[in-house]
Amino acid sequence: MYLKTLSLGLVVGLLASTSAMALDTKRLEPKDEKFSFEGPFGTYDRGSLQRGYQVYKEVCAACHSANHLAFHDLAEAGGPEFTEAQARALATAGKLPADPNDKGETTDDKGAPLMRSATLADHFPSPFPNEQAARANNGGALPPDLSMVVKAREGGPQYVYSILTGFGGTPPHGFKVTDGKYYNPYFEGWNISMPPPLKANTVSYSDGTKATVEQEAHDVVTFLTWASEPKMEERKRFGFGVLAFLVLLAGVLFAAYRKVWKDAH
Ligand code: HEC
Repeated sequence: MYLKTLSLGLVVGLLASTSAMALDTKRLEPKDEKFSFEGPFGTYDRGSLQRGYQVYKEVCAACHSANHLAFHDLAEAGGPEFTEAQARALATAGKLPADPNDKGETTDDKGAPLMRSATLADHFPSPFPNEQAARANNGGALPPDLSMVVKAREGGPQYVYSILTGFGGTPPHGFKVTDGKYYNPYFEGWNISMPPPLKANTVSYSDGTKATVEQEAHDVVTFLTWASEPKMEERKRFGFGVLAFLVLLAGVLFAAYRKVWKDAH
């Protein structure tokens, strides 16, 4: 009797595990989105970088930090290239916890933290004071810092683009979306704790670009790629310069070789 129950349990267990195996929740290959910065001569599209900052600031920054970035970076060559006055205005709109005032206080009489405007030298403010607070506000999941996320994930820009545009599909039969999570087959396991962040017209672009989900995703991914590699344009120019120099040098050496050996035989 005991043995019989045991073997029955084994069969049931095996069946259950094979049916679970049938549904492979490995993430899908990222979509094949094209970006201006790809290839050996690719550069960032300035308009896209500036719009991407707007999307980051108005949408993503509610949950994600981007600690590596400072406001003065927004005015550097090779980046969004806002004018210094524009970058300063963007900084001033950002609020950071203030240093203790002359009475040594860091909160006002209602207990709210004292804030100050950011300056060009400040890094982007974080939405939460620490990891516990970030998790508590996101159902236990931690929104990762976005400064290096494009570099840190296999698939890079296409991966992040696919996550942002990968919501809204119907889960295949037999797949259970976990409570408080969202179906996104471009994310490993298909259950992601991030609610779909982008809708059409989530932002309103001042340059007249139509703010579709795909456009917003394309722009914010351009911005985050620059955040991951702010010196990309300089690196490519330098690489091209070195290559041109080597080609020229090879030509000169070949001409010299011909001249030296011309009368030798
Ligand atoms: C409401 C909060 C919220 C907003 C707004 C939000 N995110 Fe997230 N995001 C999260 C959380 C939480 C996670 C962690 C998901 C998980 O681990 O399941 C996450 C994860 C991610 C990931 C990582 C996926 C991975 O491979 O780990 C990327 C990339 C990302 N978000 C980009 C963005 C971008 C870009 C925006 C703005 C367009 C944005 N998020 C807006 C909460 C948010």
